[in-house]
Amino acid sequence: MLSPPFLPSSYRSLPPVTQTASPSTAETIAQFDQYVIGNYRRYPVCLVRGEGSLIWDAEGTRYLDFFPGWGCNLVGHCPPRVVEAVREQIGLLIHVPNTWYTEAQGQFAQMLSERSFGGKAFFCNSGAEANEAAIKLARAHGHAAGRTKIVTMEGGFHGRTYAALTATAQPKYHHGFEPMVPGFQYIRHNDLAAADAAVDEGTAAVLVEPIQGEGGVRLPGPGYLEGLRKLCDERGALLILDEVQTGLGRTGTWFAYQNFAIEPDILTCAKALAGGVAAGVMMATNEVAETLKPGMHASTFGGNPIACRAGIATIETIEEDGLLERGKAIGERFRGHFERFREEMPTLVRDIRIMGVMIGMELSEDASAVVAGCLEKRLLINATHGTVIRLLPALNITDAQIDEGCAILGDVLRGLPS
Ligand SMILES: Cc1ncc(COP(=O)(O)O)c(C=O)c1O
Repeated sequence: MLSPPFLPSSYRSLPPVTQTASPSTAETIAQFDQYVIGNYRRYPVCLVRGEGSLIWDAEGTRYLDFFPGWGCNLVGHCPPRVVEAVREQIGLLIHVPNTWYTEAQGQFAQMLSERSFGGKAFFCNSGAEANEAAIKLARAHGHAAGRTKIVTMEGGFHGRTYAALTATAQPKYHHGFEPMVPGFQYIRHNDLAAADAAVDEGTAAVLVEPIQGEGGVRLPGPGYLEGLRKLCDERGALLILDEVQTGLGRTGTWFAYQNFAIEPDILTCAKALAGGVAAGVMMATNEVAETLKPGMHASTFGGNPIACRAGIATIETIEEDGLLERGKAIGERFRGHFERFREEMPTLVRDIRIMGVMIGMELSEDASAVVAGCLEKRLLINATHGTVIRLLPALNITDAQIDEGCAILGDVLRGLPS
């Protein structure tokens, strides 16, 4: 219970906020029903504590988490180095605006630059915000030459703010929010001929996820990203890679593009960027970054010292624990399990798409019953694009945990009504 003297004097006339020490899941759900806007479909579970790939609810039930933090907890729940870094930073400086320099932001920007294409960073707080920045930068860069069009891929996902939402070429997300932002063109994903027809002298940029995440863990076809890069170079357009989901080590390299023979002009990353602390970044080549002058773009909390210290600790964790290599091995262990499922249930398991710890299994039917079945057995997974089981496990998940969860997943798949 909050009470004076902890409240400022101006609040002391208000009734105190009362709360039991540990509310039950049912009590929390009732509170949400009354006070939280219902824009999310939530499972009836209140999570209170996590460690690595394990998480516990308010009643003390343990869950194995194959989808920690919707991809944000790439180094597991409460990674010790990140926890320590945040604890230390919060006692020194919580926030200062970008009118000042801070050591943490400079260090984090250098670490990201050295692990990618040597450009510069603009920090923000989420994936959508990073993509907004990228779209604005691409337009500002091409503006004088009349280049304003942004080409994006069907099935892609770039966020919920207006430009990011417009870039998301999926009508179901636009419905009811029209009119969308002008100047976007959608083309078939993985189709170089479609890109060839769309990218012209009025194109500012092509925006693409190296691996479509929400769109069903869709890997790029052979030569696709290289073909887009070539097309952009030939036509004078920028290539923006949305690595919000694939970024910072998920695919066995720091960024997914490093698995291919290309470099972007602009890259966005969020989710795993700061070990689960809210953070986003847009990185741009030095030449493109020059376009943004003081006053053209900003984010109040972007690059705050807590997020940057958490990001530095995340990179240190991945490096010191050899987690990029481990990520590839984890992906292959899942592949082994999934291939056995496919042999056993060839009609049900349509496709397996894995790169590091970005893992998809396409079924011949709706996958939501599998998510519900796994939840009953205390395994947290995700389904996307209707029929695709998507797993974004942590880089420090153990082999025993992978095997335990895959045994549950196998049981649930076998139990589906045929
Ligand atoms: C590829 C991609 N881009 C952008 C976003 C939006 O990120 P945020 O929810 O942090 O705004 C997401 C979120 O799932 C994503 O997967």
